[in-house]
Amino acid sequence: MKSEKKESTDSMQKQLDKFLPELQKLFGSLKENIINPVGDLITRSSNNISDALQLGLDLLNKELRGKSQPSYWRYSYEELNEILKEVMCPCAFLDLESYDENLDWVDQEIQKLGKKIRIGTKSIRVPELTMRALQKPNIDGLFIFHPNEIKHYQEKYHQKDFLLAYPIYNRTEADVLSQAVKRDPETRVHVMADNPAHLYLLEKSAAKHNVELGIIVDYDASIQFLGQVAGVMRSPLTQPKEVVSLARQCIEFPHLKFRGIMGYEGQEAGIGDFSIVYSMMKQKSRKENIERRAGIVKALNEAGLPPEIVNGGGSGCFQDTASEDSVTEVTIGSGLFKSYIFDPIESMDNFKPSLFMALRIVRFPKNGVATCFSGGFVSSAINKSPKVVLPKGCKETTREGFGEVQTPILYNPNEVFFKMGDIVICRLAKAGEPLERFNEVNIISKGKIIGYYPTNRGCGLWCG
Ligand SMILES: Cc1ncc(COP(=O)(O)O)c(C=O)c1O
Repeated sequence: MKSEKKESTDSMQKQLDKFLPELQKLFGSLKENIINPVGDLITRSSNNISDALQLGLDLLNKELRGKSQPSYWRYSYEELNEILKEVMCPCAFLDLESYDENLDWVDQEIQKLGKKIRIGTKSIRVPELTMRALQKPNIDGLFIFHPNEIKHYQEKYHQKDFLLAYPIYNRTEADVLSQAVKRDPETRVHVMADNPAHLYLLEKSAAKHNVELGIIVDYDASIQFLGQVAGVMRSPLTQPKEVVSLARQCIEFPHLKFRGIMGYEGQEAGIGDFSIVYSMMKQKSRKENIERRAGIVKALNEAGLPPEIVNGGGSGCFQDTASEDSVTEVTIGSGLFKSYIFDPIESMDNFKPSLFMALRIVRFPKNGVATCFSGGFVSSAINKSPKVVLPKGCKETTREGFGEVQTPILYNPNEVFFKMGDIVICRLAKAGEPLERFNEVNIISKGKIIGYYPTNRGCGLWCG
């Protein structure tokens, strides 16, 4: 027995020895502080070889997964160059078939779970594409980010179900919400609140217009992990009794009605599985969020305030969140375009990139450099530029990067044969946000441009 154990330990030691150089190389290349302690843990844990090996293999698998992502290209570079040759650049274009496949997939997934999806408009910012999503049987309702969106979707698309996902504190904005209900009494407008001050402001406006506004109490879904906050800093409400207290206060305001709760577990929905540490964080978050949401719903039920809407999730965790008994709906947006910051999220592997940007080459400053007009559409918070994806092997420069009026691209003239006026294809870091730089999206289907859908900007829809 003892000798069997020794043999298996020896064989693990051999395997670990084999992987060690590779692991050390990996840890050396990973910059996040959080990774280093785990690196140490693995390389030093000769006392517990099997754990060390498991951690190491996990990490390697994740690294290899990144390298074996399937190609998402429906068209070759040459085909896209031809399709977009008359279009002014920079331009945004959508591979409609990929967008539709994403929609079909999420619709089927959510149907299996018996829940519904609300569309996060901030991650789309093209009303026609939002409306295309709403045609699916299990996708319903808008998760908007600004009051101004309501009028547009009401008047142009006769939409009646809005959830404003971010709190407001301004009388003009509150009046935009109340006026929307006044215009069409069948319209339901739900607004996020986490403080009685939000309720006072909304009541004043709703009373002035003699309408009712729905209140969604926003609670904190972040977690503590390795001594840090993992997640977004939104609501101060963490305890069921705090949520119940705010929900109960709605009763005191005759023009407000408590409708439900929302908790956004951004640390599960939007963070990549870069290493086992992130996977561990997500597992912890999942467990805590199931318990937290169920605890809040139970407390509300016991207080006689059953929530009609229990919203959570995002593209990166929509199935997990929708599997919770108490959840009635999940929000998604980004997955439908799958911009590149979502590539490292394993649960998003089934989403296909569908939105791209093309830049046009306007000069050749030196051999192996093609300079394109404009392109510096950086995404907020993560502060990331677009990245060049076609032709393969081309890349932006580290010094100039994607610029205000020009973007030089490095390429190998022995492999890529650029002409003046050719395009370079890029992916954007975030999904909807950079579309504020475009008036329209070129819609490509079956190898040609079949239309131009205006973005929010193209619709004259200012949303901050
Ligand atoms: C409150 C809230 N819910 C859900 C989401 C998820 O949206 P997406 O699917 O676009 O990541 C977001 C995105 O930031 C959000 O802010």
